[in-house]
Amino acid sequence: MMNFQEQFKSDKCIQVSAPGRANLIGEHTDYNNGFVFPFPLKHTVNLSILQDDDNPVGKDAILTLASTMFPEEVTERKIFEEKKNHWTDYIIGSIQVVAKKYDLQIPSLKIIVDSNVPTGAGVSSSAALEVVTIRGIVKLLNLTDISDVDIAILARQAENEYVGMPCGIMDQFASSVGKQNYGVFLDCKTLDYVNVHLNEDYEWLVMKSGITHALVDGEYAKRVAQCASACKMLNVESLRDLTMKDLPRIEKLPELEQKRARHIVTENYRVISAVDALKNDDIQALSQLMLASHESQKVDYEITIPETDAMVKDAMKFGALSARQTGGGFGGSLIIILKKGTRDKWWSQMSKAHPTAELI
Ligand code: GLA
Repeated sequence: MMNFQEQFKSDKCIQVSAPGRANLIGEHTDYNNGFVFPFPLKHTVNLSILQDDDNPVGKDAILTLASTMFPEEVTERKIFEEKKNHWTDYIIGSIQVVAKKYDLQIPSLKIIVDSNVPTGAGVSSSAALEVVTIRGIVKLLNLTDISDVDIAILARQAENEYVGMPCGIMDQFASSVGKQNYGVFLDCKTLDYVNVHLNEDYEWLVMKSGITHALVDGEYAKRVAQCASACKMLNVESLRDLTMKDLPRIEKLPELEQKRARHIVTENYRVISAVDALKNDDIQALSQLMLASHESQKVDYEITIPETDAMVKDAMKFGALSARQTGGGFGGSLIIILKKGTRDKWWSQMSKAHPTAELI
């Protein structure tokens, strides 16, 4: 890795970065064509890319990949190789998607990844890696027609088709399109979005629960399938097509579909209301909606765990304005709103009560 790193001290080296994300509100609504309201973190995944002229261009191109997280390891992969459940899959998958979509001849490349986005914390380090890879190819080949929205779409496609995770577009969109200190209010059906300023009188904290995040266990894919089953029973294309007025129809479904559909329909309503609340500086209303979102994730979507439920409760007890589990579920991170100036006192109590927790 040391020798490998030396080669990047060249003016031909390209540098790109993309942030992780936290979601203020709108959980599991993205793959239901609904609304989400995430924001990009300050933490980024950074790529240094160097064209490797000693190896082929096009379908036989070779990617030589290293990460500062695994300093002992340099991995060589062919550009069109199948996935092998290794961190480099996110890079290979992303490059394949762009190469195929635009019929590009990608040169062989040497890439070093450096990142301060926590992994396994539900803050989308993998989406950031996909976005930054595509951003890097766009910059290297000067593909000025590919917009940030296009990059988000391609990055999600890499995750769905190559990595095999049936996620929505929220994470890649927040990473590619989001602006620092703004939430991105996104309609996942039309991809219309608005950046909404996060009021600086408050702290928008992201707290890692320190409890393992088990999306891999298939719970995420199960939720996707359960929502599809609810749609079939309700005869709608997506749960986005339903509003609060349709709740009586939902009450007639079998219990599982009923719960999942109720979460999505009420969560979409909460996202829209939360954006209005924030625009009107009504932090009280926003806080209530976020707490209700956590409760709905707990009771109807069944994706919280006792530890994150306890963290939300204690965060409030120690003086937070709001708190909820953010991301795919089963641990991961929490988003917490505090009044500016109250952080130290709040954290001294919170960290004592929950020693696994860490502020990101
Ligand atoms: C994961 C997925 C997103 C989204 C969230 C839940 O982060 O990658 O697409 O579904 O879970 O809101």
